[in-house]
Amino acid sequence: MTDDSERDDHGGAADGSGESAPDASGESAPGPDRSARVDRLVGELTREEKLRFVRGAVDPRGTATGYVPGVERLGIPEFRLVDGPLGVRAEGERATAFPASLALAATFDPSLAREQGAAMAREATAHGQDALLAPGVNLIRVPHCGRNFEYFSEDPHLAARLAAGVVDGIQGEDVVATVKHYVANNQERNRTEVSAAVDERTLRELYLPAFRAAVEAGVGSVMTAYNRVNGTHMSDHRRLVTDVLKGEWGFDGYVVSDWYGLETTVGAANAGLDLEMPGVTSRELHGPTADEEGEGDGDGDADVDWSSLDGVPDGTHAGLFGEPLAAAIDDGAVPASRLDDMVARLLGAMERTGHLDGDRGEGALDTPEHRDLAHRIAARGTVLLENDGVLPLADGADVAVIGPNVHEPTLGGGGSSETTPFRSVGPVAGIESRTAGAVTVARGVEEIEDQSLFDLLPFVGEDGDDADEGDAATADATADASAPSIDEAVAAAEAADVAVVFVRDATTEARDREDLRLPGDQDALVEAVAAATDRTVVVVTSGGPVELPWRDDVAAILEAWYPGQAHGDAIASVLYGDRDPGGRLPVTFAPEDDYPATDGTQYPGVDDVATYSEGVFVGYRHFDAAGIEPTYPFGHGESYAAFRYGDAELEGDDRLDGDAELEGVTVRVTVENVAARPGREVVQAYVRPPDPPEGIDRPPRALAGVATVEIPAGASRTVEVDLDERTLARYDPDDGWTTDPGTYVVEVGRSSRDVRTTVSFER
Ligand code: BGC
Repeated sequence: MTDDSERDDHGGAADGSGESAPDASGESAPGPDRSARVDRLVGELTREEKLRFVRGAVDPRGTATGYVPGVERLGIPEFRLVDGPLGVRAEGERATAFPASLALAATFDPSLAREQGAAMAREATAHGQDALLAPGVNLIRVPHCGRNFEYFSEDPHLAARLAAGVVDGIQGEDVVATVKHYVANNQERNRTEVSAAVDERTLRELYLPAFRAAVEAGVGSVMTAYNRVNGTHMSDHRRLVTDVLKGEWGFDGYVVSDWYGLETTVGAANAGLDLEMPGVTSRELHGPTADEEGEGDGDGDADVDWSSLDGVPDGTHAGLFGEPLAAAIDDGAVPASRLDDMVARLLGAMERTGHLDGDRGEGALDTPEHRDLAHRIAARGTVLLENDGVLPLADGADVAVIGPNVHEPTLGGGGSSETTPFRSVGPVAGIESRTAGAVTVARGVEEIEDQSLFDLLPFVGEDGDDADEGDAATADATADASAPSIDEAVAAAEAADVAVVFVRDATTEARDREDLRLPGDQDALVEAVAAATDRTVVVVTSGGPVELPWRDDVAAILEAWYPGQAHGDAIASVLYGDRDPGGRLPVTFAPEDDYPATDGTQYPGVDDVATYSEGVFVGYRHFDAAGIEPTYPFGHGESYAAFRYGDAELEGDDRLDGDAELEGVTVRVTVENVAARPGREVVQAYVRPPDPPEGIDRPPRALAGVATVEIPAGASRTVEVDLDERTLARYDPDDGWTTDPGTYVVEVGRSSRDVRTTVSFER
């Protein structure tokens, strides 16, 4: 085992512990190169001013999620941080509700990620916010995780490309992006305590790449996760925060805690944590609970048993970077240079985005461009799982719109990403405004209620200052009051030309799903409608994979994730073929028991430890290695067009060996649209590595590159896919990234299981 952390990405203590100590001088990783201006400011700030700068405070305007007061004397402006990643969640304010990150990922298109990042940043600016708490890039390890909708994929390459896109978009508009939650925050259950027992190779190959990609894209901030990794809370994890993130990767921005996720003062300061958030107690932010004003003993927070609230961090655990940090510096436990470094990092990020000059621009809010973008991403991220030809629908078809929540858009899951839009369109309104046929509506079964972290919190909402719920200008908010029945839904389906059944799950931050079934009686509803008409289309909105037990009985299935404010319009444009369903699965769909990490020691863990014994065999890597046929494989998605692939060819250098400067490999392939309508193809390139040395297992294939292309009817397009060199290599705990010599086969096709052409090269 070597500790060669000086070499790029080849090092770090391979035991994965957070325990590497500061060196004798107490110095941390080399600080970023500071500008003369930041240096001067650090020199002029008093110690008290510096201490106020590394800990959040109450926002006098009350709109920010996190707030750092300015220093007027030196012309340093205040700094506001606000939640994403599905839009701007400024308290009490509205903003464009973009589709869930998982829907964005399903577009397989980093340029759309860039556009969404830029639009969210303009809206943040319009709201006077300076940093976005987005993107969320944790890998989808288990399908149960309640926050999968906020993340991108089970595949590290796809997650990395999208992470870089969002970061680039946000920061291109001079707002600081915050990549979160660093790292291994892969479940919500017990999230504040659970320790991911994960080996170095697995961390490097699966869980770290998206964060590294964000750093390479120049991200200004990284948020630590609540959980522990190999026993150490991430806020205190010196090896991962200082050695890997700041040292190896050269991250020059600031590391912010998750809200109430700072574990200790000395541990965190010496680990490299730079900013405590929110820095003040939940009570200081939200006022006393009703209980405290009534029967409580009046001493505030003591009335709440925080430890009984699974997934909810302790809202009294604040101010660790206040007085306690001053004391720790006084007694030498934390070097004074660390405080300077913390301050310099935040000032540096403010300088790079123009904040120090107060140069913030106007921003833009709820513009036609932003509305259109929300619509486009929702449509492009919609995946056509099955289609026997019933779709696209004819303009004049009479439609029965069925489902428990057909009047409301599914804006997202619950928790810190909840966004309140100015306008939104539910399924019924979307179809009504698109069709030339008659529309009948039947809910069929009882409404599926949204779930929200905020309903679990004892403070938020008591004073009514949180974002108002659901009174956005929903065009079709007039739900019929009568009790729903499956019989009524069946009758509506029988009387129409086609039945479109909308089903959904409900997930939230701080809670995992119990199972992968659709909640309530929705499966029974679909089965009854499917028995009544063979023209049944099902539109699923979900925060990740769900089981679809009736899938062989229906004519078509669309997976729309959480589509956001444009829900109804976006689905209508796909149903009627105005847009080709461009989405591909960023996660594998399979029966619950077929996923990896199903043993209780792996997930949810035993005695606060989740053992990642599946190693790198997560998602399709597992299904491929175990030879299990999933319900729908990673990368899957049908099109209304049909594509014929020519032979793949290699461009680029295939002669280099592992020691030489790698120049990269590009695969070129011509794709013909043989249908009579335009289509959008997502060309996927997977690499099959040569056999690794004895004793090492490698997944059979890894996604190495993607290109999306619009192809008119009957036309051909030649597409170039750049392969990501890192996907060729495996991480060796002793030698770092290692590219084994041998033949690498590139599989080019429509999904991880639909290979159309192959080509190979030697290394
Ligand atoms: C979440 C973060 C979020 C923060 C501030 C936490 O509960 O984990 O993603 O940014 O709250 O709202």
